[in-house]
Amino acid sequence: MTVIYQAYVRSFADSDGDGVGDLPGLRSRLDHLQWLGVNVLWLSPTFPTPNVDWGYDVSHYHAVNPEYGELADLDGVIADARERGIDVWLDLVPNHTSDKHDWFTDRPEYYVWSPEIPNDWESVFTEGPAWHFDSRRGAYYMHQFAPQQPDLDWWNPDVRHEFERILRFWFDRGVAGLRIDVAHALVKDRELRDGVEHMRERPEVHDVYARWQEIAKEYEPKRMMMGETVVALEKLFAYWQHLDLPQNHEICKSNFELDELRPIVEEVERRVPDKTPVWFGSNHDHSRLATRWAQGDERKARAALFMLLTLRGYVILYQGDEIALTDGDVPEDCVLDIATPGRDPSRTPLPWTAAGEEWVDPWLPLTDTARNVEEQRADPESTLHYVRDLIARRKAFVNEPYRTLPSATGVWAYARGATTCVLNMTGVVVDHEGHTLQPWQGLIL
Ligand code: NOJ
Repeated sequence: MTVIYQAYVRSFADSDGDGVGDLPGLRSRLDHLQWLGVNVLWLSPTFPTPNVDWGYDVSHYHAVNPEYGELADLDGVIADARERGIDVWLDLVPNHTSDKHDWFTDRPEYYVWSPEIPNDWESVFTEGPAWHFDSRRGAYYMHQFAPQQPDLDWWNPDVRHEFERILRFWFDRGVAGLRIDVAHALVKDRELRDGVEHMRERPEVHDVYARWQEIAKEYEPKRMMMGETVVALEKLFAYWQHLDLPQNHEICKSNFELDELRPIVEEVERRVPDKTPVWFGSNHDHSRLATRWAQGDERKARAALFMLLTLRGYVILYQGDEIALTDGDVPEDCVLDIATPGRDPSRTPLPWTAAGEEWVDPWLPLTDTARNVEEQRADPESTLHYVRDLIARRKAFVNEPYRTLPSATGVWAYARGATTCVLNMTGVVVDHEGHTLQPWQGLIL
């Protein structure tokens, strides 16, 4: 299991023409993922939500967002995917709930409260205090993100028990793993002291994952846990104690420059050669790699995909990466995101065809269908085929160790066991040990 495909469900495939992607739509497109050769399908949040943050504000953890379908539809996706050799992972949001979750009214002690603003913690979305006055209770509650996303109090053992039940509920249904939202930030400083280091990255968070890992191990096969760990590289290593796959955001945030990317990879290989890294260049929060890394240049997008798919460890392809999809064009009056700068351009619908008729009045505009699945599938020279071929070829060296090799300037050469990978990280023709590399060309030797 090595290639994770992230489906942003709302924009993946729509079955009923309401402009919102859904589970039956996704289920009808599983052939695409099987053909591509991915092993894991990570679904962005599938829980009921008021959609303040498009599912990252959960109002019920034991159910399915009615916009996407019913529990039976999710069961169907899990079963059909399994038949195709694909595991389904859900996106769990344990740091906060929606303010519309029943707990917020019925179990206020599940949240973090203070009679006055106790510290300098700031909200990621509003840039003001991470505290909001609740007139019902005459006190402030903490929200690391929007005020409609109150943070849970992970010092409360009842909160821990609730999530253990949630884990079992989904693992029992055949969910094979989780992507854990804001995995570095669940536990807040008990004394609510000043300083961002007390708002997130508390060491006590590892105890939560130690317990979850025990639960994951009760299942056969063991359930997997991938953390959204947005931390500096030197802080990342601790998360491998109890998470299977702490996401490496440093890579995603880097420029597509040899001098930036290679040292990160080398540091990971030096520090955790026996752990599994997970690499990615796009997700629903960042500009797509074909735009951010490749400025639309398809050759450069392929270079990025070559890098991701030939390094040691897991890789995440965000929907559309496989066709080098660039960011969508979202005019001012269509902006829906609560965050600034808005993340809508990376969330626009996946174009399946050049006509784009599979999307009727979509929730975010579908403006550019020049890169679409149908046409690329019919063209053996397309990026889609390029990615499929790489996924097939990586099987030969997927578990082999990484070693940097000497290389010509601008070339990234590395051994993966007996296999050699060479990637031209420049826009000009380069010679490397007798091989002529075209701009941005990668070769597996
Ligand atoms: C990270 C998610 O990826 C992002 O989309 C969301 O807004 C925040 N966490 C808050 O849940």
